[in-house]
Amino acid sequence: MRRATILGFITSTTEIIGKKTRLRQKKIQDAVNEYHWRRDDELCRLDASSPITGTFQEYIHWYTEDKGYTSNSHILSIESLDGTHIGNFGCFNIDDVHKEVEIGVMIGEKSYWNHGYGVDVIQAIVDHLFASTHAQRIYLRTLDWNTRAHRCFLKCGFTDCGKVSKGDYKFLVMEITRPKKLNTSTRAI
Ligand SMILES: CC(C)(COP(=O)(O)OP(=O)(O)OC[C@H]1O[C@@H](n2cnc3c(N)ncnc32)[C@H](O)[C@@H]1OP(=O)(O)O)[C@@H](O)C(=O)NCCC(=O)NCCS
Repeated sequence: MRRATILGFITSTTEIIGKKTRLRQKKIQDAVNEYHWRRDDELCRLDASSPITGTFQEYIHWYTEDKGYTSNSHILSIESLDGTHIGNFGCFNIDDVHKEVEIGVMIGEKSYWNHGYGVDVIQAIVDHLFASTHAQRIYLRTLDWNTRAHRCFLKCGFTDCGKVSKGDYKFLVMEITRPKKLNTSTRAI
């Protein structure tokens, strides 16, 4: 059986359920939390970005127009299993020719940090991408001083594979490749 493309899977999946988290497609109601998170200095610093300065009305207009998507990226929302919207998960540089994708995760609700939600959501998406799509490699970048994120990704099986700089920011690049035992299986669901 042919496995799905990464883009096809990520844009059409309804939800991916882990032990503590659920990934789902975005809803307009998510914009309230996201506006708050994108104005937060600490979250922006961890994301190597700058806080947005516009009004909520401007943000909601942009959000409903295109949510910042490009043709090869897609953002999902992360919920705790009781339905609380706690963060965002992104697939970027989706490359179905080379069968690889860059991921990014942000738990915006800080009270949920260090309780295993990050490991849970990443393990769930990695398992599903390898089981349901033809992805061979999943990679990410994290600021070289973000020790919590680094530890979280190591726990999920990612390994360091390089370093990149952008302006003053220095990032570690980490990757995980398709487990060999999945290469011959037909676990598409
Ligand atoms: C990074 C992030 C996804 C991790 O998710 P999380 O739910 O907080 O993390 P988890 O609890 O699953 O795992 C974190 C691990 O790092 C450890 N940790 C926390 N702070 C640490 C530190 N300063 N140094 C080393 N390890 C640290 C935790 O103890 C835990 O390991 P353990 O389970 O072995 O004890 C989340 O904190 C987050 O989104 N933060 C804000 C944005 C961000 O940094 N995004 C990453 C961009 S690449």
